[in-house]
Amino acid sequence: MEREAFDQVIRRRLSRRAVLKGALGVAATAFMGTGRPSSAVATPLIGFAQVPISRQDTIVVPPGYVTQVVYAWGDPVSAGPKFRNDASNSAADQALQAGMHHDGMHFFPLPKGSDSSSQGLLVVNHEYTDDGLLHEGGMESWTAQKVAKSKAAHGVSVVEVRLDAGRWTVVRPSRYGRRITGDTPIFFSGPAAGHALLRTAADPTGRMALGTLNNCAHGVTPWGTYLTCEENWAGYFVNTGAVSDLQRRYNVDPKGWGYRWHEHDPRFDAGLHPNEPNRFGWVVEIDPFDPARSPVKRTALGRMAHEGATLAVAPDHRVVYYMGDDGLTGFEHIYKLVSARGFTPGGGASVNQHVLDHGTLYAAKFNDDGSGEWIELTQGKNGLTVERGFAAQADVLINARGAADHAGATYMDRPEWIALHPVTQEVYCTLTNNTRRGEPGQRGPDRANPRAKNVMGHIIRWREAGQDPTATRFEWDIFLLAGDPSHADPNLRGSIKDAPAFACPDGLWFDSRGVLWIETDSAARSMASTDWANIGNNQMLAADPVTGTVRRFLTGPVGCEITGIIATPDLSTLFVNIQHPGEPALAHPPRNDPRAPMAVSTWPDGPSGGRPRSATIAIRRTDGGIVGT
Ligand code: FEO
Ligand code: CA
Ligand code: CA
Repeated sequence: MEREAFDQVIRRRLSRRAVLKGALGVAATAFMGTGRPSSAVATPLIGFAQVPISRQDTIVVPPGYVTQVVYAWGDPVSAGPKFRNDASNSAADQALQAGMHHDGMHFFPLPKGSDSSSQGLLVVNHEYTDDGLLHEGGMESWTAQKVAKSKAAHGVSVVEVRLDAGRWTVVRPSRYGRRITGDTPIFFSGPAAGHALLRTAADPTGRMALGTLNNCAHGVTPWGTYLTCEENWAGYFVNTGAVSDLQRRYNVDPKGWGYRWHEHDPRFDAGLHPNEPNRFGWVVEIDPFDPARSPVKRTALGRMAHEGATLAVAPDHRVVYYMGDDGLTGFEHIYKLVSARGFTPGGGASVNQHVLDHGTLYAAKFNDDGSGEWIELTQGKNGLTVERGFAAQADVLINARGAADHAGATYMDRPEWIALHPVTQEVYCTLTNNTRRGEPGQRGPDRANPRAKNVMGHIIRWREAGQDPTATRFEWDIFLLAGDPSHADPNLRGSIKDAPAFACPDGLWFDSRGVLWIETDSAARSMASTDWANIGNNQMLAADPVTGTVRRFLTGPVGCEITGIIATPDLSTLFVNIQHPGEPALAHPPRNDPRAPMAVSTWPDGPSGGRPRSATIAIRRTDGGIVGT
C-alpha cells in the first residue's frame, strides 16, 4: 500500500481507537466495581517485570514466577505405557499417551461444576506431528505401523490433574484419562449429517467419521463440553487424479504436505475416496467427563480450516461462536454461528446435546468506514442459490468457504484465535500474517488488512451492535500491528508506541480480570532471519486493552510456538502449551533429522533426554498469587 494511504488508515484507526477506549474505560470502571477492592482502582492490570527477548533453549518468566512441565508428548494419559525417549513406543502405546504438538486447551474443574483451582481435567489438542521425531528412523523407512502411530499422535487428550504443595501432577490411574485420535469413531450431527457428500465406501450412511485431525484451537460450551477445531486437515490428503472444484477450494492437491498416510491408508487418497476430505474441517464436541460418550462433529458450524470456536452467550441463552478460518494459503474469512435456541442452564451435556445442531451461520464483512456486517449464509439468501451449487443448507455448510465468497465476506490475513472481553464483550482476533497480500495476482491491502506483505501480523477487534453477540452489525478497529519498533522497514515496525518487539500473534485469550494474553507463532525459518534480530524466540505477552500497555511475560525454547492458554478459576495457575520445540529453520516441511533429533532443541528433558517434546506447562507465582499482577 502506498505510504499516504497507509498513514490514513493508521490515523483513522487511532481516532476510532480513542472512541473505543473511552467506552472501554466506562466498562472497566464497572468491572472494577464488581469485586475489586476500591484501593485497587489505581492498580495497573499488569504488574510483572517484562522479560527480555531470548534465543535460549529454555522458558523464561518474570522474577517471582516458576514454571513446571505437567504433560509432555508420550506421557501416559492414565496408567498406560511410559514414554521411551528413543521413539520406540508402538502405535498402540501412542494411542494411550499424549499426542504431539499440543495446541488449544481448557481446564474443567473437578468436582464437575465446581470452581476448584487444585483439581480438574485438562483437555489438550494435539495439532500435528513431526514424523522425524515420532518414529525410530523417522520417515526413512515408511510402514503401515508408522502411519498408525502418526494418526495416534493426533487428536485430543483428556487428563486428570491435581495440585499438591504448589506442583501439578497428572493423576494415574484416572477414570477420565482418554485419547481421541485420527482413527476414533466420531458421529456427524446437524444439517449436513448423512448428506451424499459425506458418504464413503466405508460409511455409506455419511454419519460416522473416523478421527479428528489438525486440532488447533478450541472452544467450550456452557454445558461443560469441549470443542476441538479441525484446521489444516487438507494436508493429510493426496489426489493425484482429477481434483474437484470443492477439493481445490479446500486446498486438497496432488502432493499433500508429505504425511504419506495415503500410502498405507487409502482413505487419505482423495482420488480414490473423493468424499473423505469432506468429513474433516468441522468443530467436534467432546464430553470430557464421560469417556464412554462418542465425540460429535457439529456440522452447523460449517466446514473450513477451523482455528477455534470462541463462545459468547446472548441474554436469552442462545450461544454464539466466533470462528476464524486459517487456511495456510491465507485470504479466508471470519464466521459466527448463532444457535437457533438457547441452552438450558444447569441442563448438562445430555439436555443440551442438540443446541449446536441448529443455528444461523454468518461470515464477516469489514467495511472501509469502520462498520461491519455479518452476512447470513443460509441457502436461498445472499446469492447462495441452487444454480451456484447450494441446493440445501448442507451444501452451504460443506462448502462454507464458497458460500462466504459468493456472499461477499472479507478476505483476512489468516484469522487465528478469537478472544471475548469478559465484561465489554468486545471481540479480538489475531491475524497472524499474510506475506502474499499485495503480491502480483493476489488481493491487495484493505482497511482491515492494511499491510501489503503482512509479515508481522496484527490484531483486529469489533464491538457488536447493542453489545448483543447475535447482532448482524458491528464496529471494528485495529487494536495493534505487531512488529519490531526499531526495524528499518516501517512496514515491519508495528503500531504500539514503546511496544515490546513481537511477531505473528496467534493464541489470544482474556482472563477474568480483563488481561489480554497474546501468544506468538513465528515460523522457525522467520526467526532465523535478520528481521527477527530484535524479536527472538516465540513469546507470550500480556496486554491491557484499556491503557494499550503490552508487556512480554514469557519466552519459549528454541524453535517452539507458544499456544494454548487457560487459567484455574482463581488465576493462581496459568497452563500454557509449548508446541514443537526444536522446529528446524531450514527443512521444508520442518521435520527434524531422526539421526540428530536434538540438533535444534533438547527441551524439556535436556541433553540426557532423547528428543524435544511438546508439553503443557504450569506457571505460578512463588507466593501463590494471581498470575500477571
Ligand atoms: Fe494451527 Fe492457525 O494455527
Ligand atoms: Ca494457531
Ligand atoms: Ca499459527
